[in-house]
Amino acid sequence: MHDIEGVIQENLPVCRDFYRCKIELARPMGKVTPGQFIMLKVPSAEIFLRRPFSIYDHSKDTITIMYRVVGKGTQSLCQAGKKEKVFVLGPLGNGFTLIKRDAYVVIAGGIGIAGVHLLIKSLNDKARVFYGTSGKEELAAIKDIMSFNPVIATLDGSQGFKGDVIALFQKQVKSFGGKDMEIFTCGPEGMVKSLRKSMGKLKIPCQVLVEERMACGLGLCFGCVVKTVDEKEPYKRTCKEGPVFDLWQISL
Ligand SMILES: Cc1cc2nc3c(=O)[nH]c(=O)nc-3n(C[C@H](O)[C@H](O)[C@H](O)COP(=O)(O)OP(=O)(O)OC[C@H]3O[C@@H](n4cnc5c(N)ncnc54)[C@H](O)[C@@H]3O)c2cc1C
Ligand code: FES
Repeated sequence: MHDIEGVIQENLPVCRDFYRCKIELARPMGKVTPGQFIMLKVPSAEIFLRRPFSIYDHSKDTITIMYRVVGKGTQSLCQAGKKEKVFVLGPLGNGFTLIKRDAYVVIAGGIGIAGVHLLIKSLNDKARVFYGTSGKEELAAIKDIMSFNPVIATLDGSQGFKGDVIALFQKQVKSFGGKDMEIFTCGPEGMVKSLRKSMGKLKIPCQVLVEERMACGLGLCFGCVVKTVDEKEPYKRTCKEGPVFDLWQISL
């Protein structure tokens, strides 16, 4: 893990309040596992704390994030232009663990696609991808993975299944015919809770990327803990032990 200076190569709107930002790094970041994240110092003197973002994509000398504007940090980032200087700490945390299975399912909701994009790419055509969003205008966020034929749910029914992505997955889960499968997911808390509730009986292995609020990102402040079923040490830090957890081991 290194703190690397970078310059913004491009920072463009994707759809609505989603942006994609490609950063050229002064030196290579090294090996990245899908699901790992960076702590980004956005180019604003008023914003002291870094913000965590999943590594959406990377090459030897670049890193790309996709983000949704929700508050002052992301607002300031979306106004940053080409050549602006940023600092990137990473790669951080534990990413997804891949073991050999008969089938892999990736379920993402909204900006949660940013956390699983690299995983989908690395699984190549081995994963069945489910993506849920509010309406078809947000489908620009999955343009890069359309070749993997994602199954789409929109809340307003403007494209694909009308309803939420977990309801869609529930309808299709039987088509996997009891295969040894694993689910990887990232999205709004409501979506993850609903997945957990609906899969409660089947107990399919599932790894979830948790987007808890963070301060240090380095395991020092304990500001990002999630409660788990571990009796000895129930509180785990999202930035250190996570951000990827076993869905059946955490309390939501
Ligand atoms: C490991 C990890 C990976 C992440 N990856 C991405 C990503 O790839 N793309 C992306 O858009 N976002 C991602 N996030 C969330 C992102 O870090 C926050 O949206 C961002 O820090 C908000 O900063 P802000 O200054 O704009 O908002 P703030 O002013 O800090 O907050 C504005 C609003 O957003 C809410 N908020 C802030 N942080 C979070 C959070 N972590 N989860 C849910 N709500 C939050 C606040 O409660 C508040 O309502 C990730 C978070 C983690 C922990
Ligand atoms: S953010 Fe400080 S311990 Fe995780």
